[in-house]
Amino acid sequence: MAVKEIKKDIYWVGAIDWDRRLFDELIPLPEGTSYNSYLIKGQEKTALIDTVDPTKEDVLLDNLDDLGIEQLDYLVVNHAEQDHSGAIPIILELYPEAKVVTNEKCKKMLIEHLLIKEDRILTVHDSDTLSLEGKTLQFIFAPWVHWPETMLTYLEEDKILFSCDLFGAHLAESNLWVDNESKVYFAAKRYYAEIMMPFRSNIKKHLERLKKLEIKTIAPSHGQIYPRPEFILSAYREWTSDEVKNEVVIPYISMHDSVKEMVYILTEELMKNGITVQPFNLTRTDIGELAMALVDAATIVIASPTVLTGAHPQVVSAVYLANALRPKLRYASIIGSYGWGGKMLQDITAMINNLKVEILSPVIIKGYPKEEDYDSLIRLAGEIAEKHKNL
Ligand code: FEO
Repeated sequence: MAVKEIKKDIYWVGAIDWDRRLFDELIPLPEGTSYNSYLIKGQEKTALIDTVDPTKEDVLLDNLDDLGIEQLDYLVVNHAEQDHSGAIPIILELYPEAKVVTNEKCKKMLIEHLLIKEDRILTVHDSDTLSLEGKTLQFIFAPWVHWPETMLTYLEEDKILFSCDLFGAHLAESNLWVDNESKVYFAAKRYYAEIMMPFRSNIKKHLERLKKLEIKTIAPSHGQIYPRPEFILSAYREWTSDEVKNEVVIPYISMHDSVKEMVYILTEELMKNGITVQPFNLTRTDIGELAMALVDAATIVIASPTVLTGAHPQVVSAVYLANALRPKLRYASIIGSYGWGGKMLQDITAMINNLKVEILSPVIIKGYPKEEDYDSLIRLAGEIAEKHKNL
């Protein structure tokens, strides 16, 4: 996408990554992503807000060239992660007069990760402003969304919040502006689930602080720009709230159909109790889908066969992730099957120590489910339904 004017003297100069399908060698990107960089021209000074992934630095440079930017005074760095900071070195080389503007924590990270020279960096404090003449940038520190150094930049005259990763979505779209809120809702929720969810309490505090600003536009570092900020602000309030939904998530693996049958019975019984159930066959699901389901669910039931005395490695991987994402689950249980023994239950229980959950009666059976095992699963469904009455 070529340069786009957002408002007079404010431009999107980033890059769309249509083909990227994996982030951090971990996070699936089914719809690609974008690295949003913004150029602001004041009457006297010009500032670039964030750069792009190093693989796309040529696109950023072409965009600046198209705009005829021969002098750059400031390069505002909201976040040190390489998908936004990776093109800083080439920008500083091509614009030798430009100063990086960032906070102390980010400065240290830029020096460590990108070998930026300290004398190229101007350090700002929370709430500091920087005038470009006619355009004033205010810096709002927002640590832990998802790194410790992140800040947001607010353009006072135009009331635009450049929110960095916060409110972002991994979406490659030709339209710069959000034009399909329901599509963006799911992409932004996936992004929140995979990246922001462990920092829910910090984000709640940042949302409170943002209430004091008049925000007409939110321009994040990934995905489209929000012309109706309340759409994404209210979605974030919903996701970060303490409320959970009458939902059960069941990540599972089945090797010889025993666990599959257990999951089927439990799913049916939960549905009979009016509970929304999302079973995820971990051989097929993408972990972003699982993470999204964990944003709202009240209960997780982990279902695994026994492999070499422990849980199946794909279940271990999913449980590790679920534990690291710290969803606001209230209840958990473990179901599964074994051939001749093992400690799968103990292994999984030890892995979910981050989750502030009450553990409900596990159902661990030998071989294929029998009549008494069906009864145990029906009892577990009833126990979950009882607990969910008090949500
Ligand atoms: Fe989009 Fe934390 O980088």
